[in-house]
Amino acid sequence: MTGPTRIAFQNVSVRFPTPGGGDMQVVDNVSYDIRDREFVSVIGPSGCGKTTMMNIVAGFMQPTAGTVTLDGKQISSPGPDRGVIFQEYGVFPWLSVKDNIAFGLSLRANRAASAERDEICSRYMRLMGLAEFADAWPRMLSGGMRQRLALARAYAVKPQFLLMDEPFGALDAQTRSAMQDLLLEVLAAENKTVMLITHSVEEALYLSNRIVVMTARPTRIREVIEVPFAYPRTDALHESREFGELRSHIRNLVMQEYAQQALQRNPQPA
Ligand SMILES: Nc1ncnc2c1ncn2[C@@H]1O[C@H](COP(=O)(O)OP(=O)(O)O)[C@@H](O)[C@H]1O
Ligand SMILES: [Mg+2]
Repeated sequence: MTGPTRIAFQNVSVRFPTPGGGDMQVVDNVSYDIRDREFVSVIGPSGCGKTTMMNIVAGFMQPTAGTVTLDGKQISSPGPDRGVIFQEYGVFPWLSVKDNIAFGLSLRANRAASAERDEICSRYMRLMGLAEFADAWPRMLSGGMRQRLALARAYAVKPQFLLMDEPFGALDAQTRSAMQDLLLEVLAAENKTVMLITHSVEEALYLSNRIVVMTARPTRIREVIEVPFAYPRTDALHESREFGELRSHIRNLVMQEYAQQALQRNPQPA
């Protein structure tokens, strides 16, 4: 089902300078691979270093030690092959809904003819429930609608990789579930490789081939879980016994890491 390695973390460590002149280790010797067409979710306590790892894959920063490669080449800059969806700030406030979606399609790397561009924009506005808002400005949209616009923008350029940082966090439960199913449909049609950061164990299990559970900061890999469910996935999966068991197992790991983090911030007297 999955092919060759596309993205590889090899002994990646990240340290950031602290205001006092010292430094803080955020990522500690992390190695894992994301294979072609694989859907990998990364889950771990807030502040552990998940976004930092995604920023390296996106080409926004370099690790302090170790390498992150894409098809064997060290990543040194952003590129149109990687569509990045952040939890916030994914849209340009100065462009209308339609022009936000069209924006990526007008960049040289993905240039589309204008008739084709209109068709792609209409298709994604329809899929995301934004058709009536084509000429609206982002500030007129709710938070959830802005987030759907950010998704439409990223999907429209059909990048090979989707790097998604808590993309559904701002959505209500119904919309979130619809957006998960839509993502799976897009993937089934377009064969993408996905790295998703999420706080939701339920979401990670429903969507992924593999889940990488990270420890508290400095973050290391706590456990990698192979998700055994075939695609296409359906809602009934949430009710299955195996799903429930894996969910408890992963929740437990994440809770232990939150406890560990709390202990680090607030050590118990000996
Ligand atoms: N550019 C930066 N400079 C200094 N510290 C940073 C920078 N980016 C992130 N950090 C710190 O690194 C830690 C991990 O951040 P982040 O990767 O955003 O965590 P997560 O996404 O897991 O919540 C946090 O303590 C954050 O404050
Ligand atoms: Mg983050």
